Amino acid sequence: MPKIGNIELPDFPLLLAPMEDVSDPPFRALCKEQGADVVYTEFISSEGLIRDAAKSVLKLDIYEKERPVGIQIFGAELDSMLQAVDIVEQSNPDIIDINFGCPVKKVVCKNAGAGILRDIPLMVKLTEEIVKRTKLPVTVKTRLGWDSDSIKIVEVAERLQDVGIKAISIHGRTRVQMYKGEADWKPIAEVKNNQRMQIPVFGNGDVDTPEAAVRMRDDFGLDGAMIGRASIGYPWFFKEVKHFFRTGEHMAPPSMQERVDAARRHLQMSIDWKGEKLGVFETRRHYTNYFKGIPHFKEHRMKMVTSDDAVDVFAAFDEVLEKFGDFQFA
Ligand SMILES: Cc1cc2nc3c(=O)[nH]c(=O)nc-3n(C[C@H](O)[C@H](O)[C@H](O)COP(=O)(O)O)c2cc1C
Repeated sequence: MPKIGNIELPDFPLLLAPMEDVSDPPFRALCKEQGADVVYTEFISSEGLIRDAAKSVLKLDIYEKERPVGIQIFGAELDSMLQAVDIVEQSNPDIIDINFGCPVKKVVCKNAGAGILRDIPLMVKLTEEIVKRTKLPVTVKTRLGWDSDSIKIVEVAERLQDVGIKAISIHGRTRVQMYKGEADWKPIAEVKNNQRMQIPVFGNGDVDTPEAAVRMRDDFGLDGAMIGRASIGYPWFFKEVKHFFRTGEHMAPPSMQERVDAARRHLQMSIDWKGEKLGVFETRRHYTNYFKGIPHFKEHRMKMVTSDDAVDVFAAFDEVLEKFGDFQFA
């Protein structure tokens, strides 16, 4: 069974990917309830943490019930990263994850995120110093390389292992690809097949059906799957994959009642955690998937995503349950 440091995981664990404005404590808790084995926070700027930027500090919150949880940080300055590690440790996460994969321009141009894929020695150095700084297990999330001409992920992963990381998650795209094309899992399998690799190698990118998770496990031989977009507004995805692993059959999709209950809890937890304004706003992106497939749903969705008042959004959920309570999801 794979382990991240001393954290024991089940066979082929499913990890909730770090996702900005998505992987917050309420959503992580829902995913954990539905079978996620490890959850990660969204990325947190090391510079923001040092400046005590309220938004960055809020992202350090974790609920006990979501453990094991990894806090993900990004940056490119050694001093800032090390200070950020000290701050992160005070939140007592189970894992510290370093983001070496974010493709966004404002991150990359500072050499952070996937920007560091153009400077592998710096990537290794930062990682080595972070590992030395903390007793927590350190993991890395990265991409295949900067572009298709510079895919050196087998060598990079080995060097990161040698400086002490305890697991690596690899998104099967280059920085230049951003989110285009299909994720390529072959180079990730090459990392796994490197005889020198001892740590778990988790695959990421386009695991959007239980069958895809089976392929990642059986055809590519990876140690687990990190799941991002397929879980947005659909925390049941983790449970569905595990059911498919066990039985080879698809689970019945969640009923309307379950979806409305989850949406309600999600919104309520978000409001409790970050206040009504932000809670209402940031939960919006999940509703499309919570209620996907219902015909003539636009009017209801619009109510959910345009009102700033939580009372209206809760009322919209009640209406949906009343009107579509018997709807059979495919
Ligand atoms: C809305 C959104 C926000 C993301 N934010 C982060 C982030 O904060 N840190 C990170 O490492 N990756 C981030 N990613 C990338 C995902 O973790 C993941 O690598 C990517 O979505 C591919 O996996 P998927 O096909 O399962 O979605 C983000 C992706 C999305 C869609």
